[in-house]
Amino acid sequence: MKTSIAIGLGLIASAAQAQNGPADPAVNETFKFARPAGQPDAVETSPDGQITVQVSTDNDGRAVYMIARNGKAIVAPSRLGMMFTDAPKIERGMKIESVTHAKSDTSWTQPWGEWRTIRDNHREMRVRLMESSALHRRYDVVFRVQDDGVGFRYEFPEQQAMPHANIAEELTEFNIAQGGTAWWKPAFLWNREEYLYNRTPINAVGTAATPITMKLDDGTHIAIHEAALVDYASMAVMKTEGNSFKAVLTPGSGAPKVVKTGAWQTPWRTFLIAPDAGGLYMSHLMLNLNAPNKLGDVSWVKPGKFVGVWWKMIKGEWSWARGPRHGATTANVKTYIDFASKYGIPGVLVEGWNIGWDGDWAGNGSAMQFATPAEDFDADALAKYAKAKGVSLIGHHETGGAVSHYESLFDPAFKFAADHGEHVVKTGYVADAGQIERVNADGSVSREWHEGQWMVNHHLRVLEAAAKYKVSIDSHEPVKDTGLRRTYPNWLAREGSRGMEYNAWPGKNPPEHEVNLAFTRMLEGPMDFTPGVLSLTGSDNSPIQSTIAKQLALYVVLYSPVQMAADTPENYAKYPQAFRFIADVPVDWEDSRVLNGEVGDYVTFARRDRKSRDWYVGSITDETARELTVTLDFLEPGKTYEAQVYKDGPGATYATEARHSIAFETRRVKKGDTLTLSLAPGGGQAIRLKAL
Ligand code: NOJ
Ligand code: CA
Repeated sequence: MKTSIAIGLGLIASAAQAQNGPADPAVNETFKFARPAGQPDAVETSPDGQITVQVSTDNDGRAVYMIARNGKAIVAPSRLGMMFTDAPKIERGMKIESVTHAKSDTSWTQPWGEWRTIRDNHREMRVRLMESSALHRRYDVVFRVQDDGVGFRYEFPEQQAMPHANIAEELTEFNIAQGGTAWWKPAFLWNREEYLYNRTPINAVGTAATPITMKLDDGTHIAIHEAALVDYASMAVMKTEGNSFKAVLTPGSGAPKVVKTGAWQTPWRTFLIAPDAGGLYMSHLMLNLNAPNKLGDVSWVKPGKFVGVWWKMIKGEWSWARGPRHGATTANVKTYIDFASKYGIPGVLVEGWNIGWDGDWAGNGSAMQFATPAEDFDADALAKYAKAKGVSLIGHHETGGAVSHYESLFDPAFKFAADHGEHVVKTGYVADAGQIERVNADGSVSREWHEGQWMVNHHLRVLEAAAKYKVSIDSHEPVKDTGLRRTYPNWLAREGSRGMEYNAWPGKNPPEHEVNLAFTRMLEGPMDFTPGVLSLTGSDNSPIQSTIAKQLALYVVLYSPVQMAADTPENYAKYPQAFRFIADVPVDWEDSRVLNGEVGDYVTFARRDRKSRDWYVGSITDETARELTVTLDFLEPGKTYEAQVYKDGPGATYATEARHSIAFETRRVKKGDTLTLSLAPGGGQAIRLKAL
């Protein structure tokens, strides 16, 4: 009996702990890991030696894994396993058959993104587990350990005892070894991913969508999520007891949540682990765990800003449906094309351009046509007009959840888009969670979840259908982002949280919403939040809880390669000086840094333009005013920059009419200088650092 495995100082646990959930870190120090003889060690560390992962089996032969940082437990012994609808679960009676290790340190280039170059420096451990029952089923659990986190996945080889897998549930546990605070939104409710974030003790979380972000008692920041979600159901995490969680897969329309045949694997279950909030954002773990670009030459994928026939619809002044308030008329669209062209904005989104909106389309999109324009939208003439002005239309495919119907129209839909010079199409899936309409081969209808296996695969079918026509996708009401933009670089952005649209309606986003997003939703990847409503009013002139400077800062804080200037041309005409920043700010970056930040409180980003030597800074706060000092140590040495500052003006606050108060300032700066950013309640600051 081997009694002790050294993992730094502390991550040592007993089989009893493996059964009883989270380990008390103090107890960890005294208990030694006990496990059956004759099994090889299964320990791996990060390249810098700070993070350690260990796999073992408990008294019942249940595989458990644990993670420590600097010798202190982060994840206490947590079980692995799978439950099936038509076969015994695979959990007990497992034996570690073999353990193999590998390491790799390479770099790759993002065709577009927050960073041009991504380093992938990791250690890998493959643990082969074999069932001692008569079935003798086996699987590998593969760990990737980076300096900033850990990913693992199950890999099931093709095997006689398991010709297919009808997965009822994954038995993966995430037993957090310390208390702390969690930022999370609920999973499986009707409004999909569009909920405000809760900030609670870890032990008060319910069932949470991922990423869920936590600050542990010792200050370590972690986020649980997944990478490379392909042909599988999306995972949420459910609090069990104490600080322990278990995986919950999104249901399918049938009894198994996931169906697999032959050899199969799960997505990567990921832990970002960092000393501070900024470290979570700076991790490339999730992108590294995705497969490289599958589409070949993607020079046709074009990041860019856009305006759109949109905000007036969201506010209820115009309609998607035809009739007297129809927004997508030839004349209206021309106004937006003219505006975009004047300010060098390459895209104009048009919603409600097609037939299908007249009835009750939400949750029922079977009337939607994707190649048939409304009579008052002259698609051919507008495509020509836009082209002559150096602008492209952005298409819109709202499915209303009628997804089989949409799939049956893929080809004409994307051909129409390509024929009209559209490089990007925004898609939409407005239907309650669990109400996606899937038409089976026999004509019967099944109801699917937005993030179930069938929809996960649907989104990949969209990307492939669109790629044939060199079209890129911006999906709303999507499946969560797990880094698949690396594999499919035409997946530019998605919504997947409460965006600006909520500011048009009653029940607006509170001032802390965007700071919450920065270290939760934004850990997934680009979000089509659609910032830049400088008028700061929603429907019926209702006030939006932000300052103008904060709206500008969002272009730097909330990364997206397709970034909307969401307000109307009329409104932008009222704020020409502030609008300058929106016209200037790029959407594609050479480098990104988090200069400071606390989850849910404030954050400051600096990003360098890919096409110039200019840097941009964006800083935002919640309802609390703050003074933040930042050092410009990221600038190039020996160079002078003109800092064009857009800051909260005298008396600015999100809470009153003074939310429109903004001040402008220009000064010379160089590397090493410090700037003090004064942020108003609900405010922000945006700075262009123009290289001279
Ligand atoms: C909800 C989307 O988030 C919004 O952007 C879109 O305009 C409507 N659905 C209609 O498709
Ligand atoms: Ca939405």
